[in-house]
Amino acid sequence: MGRLATADKHGQPFAVPFCFVYEGGLLYTPLDEKPKSTDPRNLKRVRNIRENPHVAVVIDRYSEDWSGLAFLMIRGAACLLEPEEPEHARAVTALREKYPQYRMMQIHELPLIRIEPETFTAWGDLTAGLRPGLDVLGLMRGRRSVRWYTPEPVAPEQVRAILEAGRWAPSPHGRQPWRFAVLTRPEPKEKLAAAMAATWDQQLTLDGQAEEVVATRLQKAHDRLTGAPLVVVLCLYLDDLDTYPDAGRQKAETTMAVQSLGAAAQNMLLTAYGLGLDGGWMCAPLFCPEVVVAALDLDPRLVPHAMLTFGHAAKDPVRRPHRPLDDLIVLDA
Ligand SMILES: Cc1cc2nc3c(=O)[nH]c(=O)nc-3n(C[C@H](O)[C@H](O)[C@H](O)COP(=O)(O)O)c2cc1C
Repeated sequence: MGRLATADKHGQPFAVPFCFVYEGGLLYTPLDEKPKSTDPRNLKRVRNIRENPHVAVVIDRYSEDWSGLAFLMIRGAACLLEPEEPEHARAVTALREKYPQYRMMQIHELPLIRIEPETFTAWGDLTAGLRPGLDVLGLMRGRRSVRWYTPEPVAPEQVRAILEAGRWAPSPHGRQPWRFAVLTRPEPKEKLAAAMAATWDQQLTLDGQAEEVVATRLQKAHDRLTGAPLVVVLCLYLDDLDTYPDAGRQKAETTMAVQSLGAAAQNMLLTAYGLGLDGGWMCAPLFCPEVVVAALDLDPRLVPHAMLTFGHAAKDPVRRPHRPLDDLIVLDA
């Protein structure tokens, strides 16, 4: 969200908060305000732009910690972009990618405001908290499994970005055989942890673990799950996959779906890390999928496979060493 300032022909200023997308070096914002009651072309900002194309945009970040204050001001020339123009469709697609809410709105039928930036003035670092300068390999090397988080929540737009990253994972036949159950509130996390505790108890006891050890591990697992600001339960969804008459091919089809779920998980973990967050992987649902389905009241066709936890790392984890590349290449013909 930014603020858009326009002025009429007398220089009388007018500012509104606005949603925008930056695409191809241009800013676009839709005219989405109740078009039935007001002709969008009559909005004050549109009338101003007609009289005087000079606009200013401010995108800012406030933080209680004032070292995190930042803003960017863009000054430029605005005009109205009509739906018939080819650029309009591209801008609408970009806006709907950024703001899913626009997918339900008729913004493709209305003009957009198009702003061509002329000057940029920045103060502070709007990207602080991100991990700038890391290329994809840098993100892969830096990503680490974090198991304990501070209570700081994951911002809704970060949750969205993480899920969006999962959406773009490769999948067999492009069928996207995964679904995401997103837990941010304490109650569902608590309910899930309590439901899984019985299975954990049973399994650890079966392993011959002493009662006190079982109790400590149960408590730890509970705390780890409920203490994560964001938990994404990754579920396999096999209904859209191909079916085969033989078990061998059917098993391979399922394996492909599981592999794809792993790719979705990695997309999410890397994106979270790129956003300055951290993530962890808990495989527990794999051992009691039906318990997870029942606890979260999920569609019974879903098979929970993993819980990905996200948040701000409470401390840097100790990492296991990764094998040298030469150990992994078994044939280089
Ligand atoms: C399929 C899978 C299941 C995992 N399950 C767990 C788990 O249940 N608990 C856990 O603490 N870490 C789990 N991990 C994380 C691994 O322990 C971690 O990736 C590994 O130790 C390497 O550390 P790194 O991720 O920091 O490089 C899992 C990872 C994968 C890929």
